[in-house]
Parts: sequence; C-alpha cells; structure tokens
Amino acid sequence: MDAPAPVTATAFSALLARTEALYAPIRSVVPPADWALFAEDVEAILALKREKNAVILAHNYQTPEIYHCVADIVGDSLALAREAMHVEADIIVLAGVSFMAETAKLMNPGKTVLIPDTEAGCSLADSITPADIRLMREAYPGVPIVAYVNTTAAVKAEVDICCTSGNAKRIVESLGVPRVIMLPDQYLARNVAAETGVEIITWAGQCEVHERFTAEDVRELRAAHPGVTVLVHPECPPEVVAEADFAGSTAAMTDYVADHRPPRVVLLTECSMSDNVAVHYPDLEFIRPCNLCPHMKRITLKNIRRALEENRNVVTIDPAIADRARSSVERMLAI
Ligand code: 13P
Ligand code: SF4
Repeated sequence: MDAPAPVTATAFSALLARTEALYAPIRSVVPPADWALFAEDVEAILALKREKNAVILAHNYQTPEIYHCVADIVGDSLALAREAMHVEADIIVLAGVSFMAETAKLMNPGKTVLIPDTEAGCSLADSITPADIRLMREAYPGVPIVAYVNTTAAVKAEVDICCTSGNAKRIVESLGVPRVIMLPDQYLARNVAAETGVEIITWAGQCEVHERFTAEDVRELRAAHPGVTVLVHPECPPEVVAEADFAGSTAAMTDYVADHRPPRVVLLTECSMSDNVAVHYPDLEFIRPCNLCPHMKRITLKNIRRALEENRNVVTIDPAIADRARSSVERMLAI
C-alpha cells in the first residue's frame, strides 16, 4: 500500500484555519498543540457521520475533543440508554464503555452499533456473572434483584430490573419491599440503602475509579481550598459521600453546577468530567483532583474514525438473552 502523502505546511495551516470554530469552545481545556493533532480526525469524523448516516453518543467521561467536537448526544448512562432508543440514523457509535454499547443495541436493535474499542470494559461489569446472579436468587428466594446498568447484557437478562446512578433510589423505592438485592456496586448499594432505609443485600464489586477517593481527600480539599463545594459520584465509598455537599450521577453533577453556580467546585469523579463541564462556566473555579478511567480512555478520535471508516466492532447480543436483558432495562425506563 502507498504511504499517505505528507501534509504540507500550507495544507496544515488551512486545516487549522478551517477548524478554528470547532476548536473555539474547548480552547480553555485543550492546548493548541493537542488540537493540531486532533483537527484532521475531527473533520474526517464529521464527514463520515454525514456520509454513513451515523450519530455518536458519548458518555460524560469522554475527552473534550470527542465530547464537544464530534458527539451528537452526550449524557450519563441513563440518558444514553434513553436517547439510543430514539436514534433514527443507521449507525450509532457509542463513545463509552462496552456495557453502554450493549445497552444501546438492546434499546435499538435494528441499528448498527459500533464501539471504537472492544476492550473498553468496566471493573463493575467484570465483577459479576450470570451464574453469580442465579446463586444469589437461590440464596435469597423472592428478593427482587436490581442490577446496576454497569453490567453485561447476560447479567441484565437474569435480573428483575436495572438501575443507574441517576435513578437507583427511585427504582429501589418503586419496588415497595423492605429488602432488595442490588449489585454489583457495593458502594452505590450502601449509599442507596442509607437514602432509602431499604435493607440492601449487595455484591463485592466496586468502580476502580471511585473507590480510590477517601474521606480524608475531601477534608484536605476543604482545608486547601476554603469554600469549595464538593460533588461526588455515588460509586464513591459512603464515608466520602458523607463528607460531600452533593452526590449524584454525572448528569446530576452537571445539573448541580448549572443550577447552583458554585464559585469554587470540585467534582470527585473521572477526570474528563471537570473539563467538559468547565468549558461552559469560565467564571467558576474548578479544582481538579480526579482519577482516570482507563476503559473510558481507550476511546479516541482515531478509533472512532476507524470504526466509522471500516464499520468495525459491530456490537451483537446473543438472541437467547437479548429479550430478557431488554426487559430489565425497559422496566427501569418505565419508572
Ligand atoms: P453515570 O451513569 O453517572 O454517568 O455513571 C456511569 C459510570 O460509569 C460512572 O463511573
Ligand atoms: Fe466502570 Fe468506573 Fe470506568 Fe465507570 S468509571 S466505566 S464504573 S470503571
């Protein structure tokens, strides 16, 4: 195969000039040297989306050049599941992790769903299997099982209903029973138990990003940045949530910033969140300790472009589980 033609300095300057308007919104969080590396892929992806009738759904943890420059729909896991249902384009590229791509395919089975990197997993989804769920059912007969959406489709097929961090409290309360199994995130389960008073039996899973935050981190942040408002994700351990001003899903944290405009704020969650939100609020001070999700960070402009060019990494779901898994998500969306 012939090597690609070298880009001339004139062509490169023209590319940067052409993409100036695309770069403008993320200038505060993406340095010019990085944009020079991103611009060509951004242009190519925008053209491919038109050519192939594709849309990109991106999770709030995607990097700003994906989130702000090529994504059509952005949001938390709940919003992405809901929005996937209404997509009319032929192709959905899910810029997020595998369980999100599977959920998109479940919710809109007629569409081609692509995931730019099939290795984009999740420590929570990896922590539990369908066989584990069957054992839990045997151990606790009659107790409803709620699965966090951060699970495989095969696990979703075995449970009664799904939840996300955005609706976990509502889902548990809607069951109207004193005891519920909620898995696999032990911290989310304990945080929901504290909020609802429902007895929750859980599982020993945790998010490798949020489990690393400590209550001491929050105290140190408050000491170092007087007046800071601390927002945390409910996948953090309960003692971290107890020290925070607010705990909520990634969408709820975004809404909190929009509604309260805290002059100094920290989002104890994945690193790209603060970048993506900060773009809209140049007048607010974002303190930036954060943890990277190695799975979310597998998604890049390059592999989004390649997925679209080659129709690569098509998500499929075993028909033997698809209907049952979809029902668990649909029951959640109905509440
Ligand atoms: P949200 O549903 O709050 O976006 O969370 C998804 C996730 O993976 C958090 O770690
Ligand atoms: Fe999974 Fe945690 Fe990464 Fe979210 S941040 S995808 S829960 S490992």
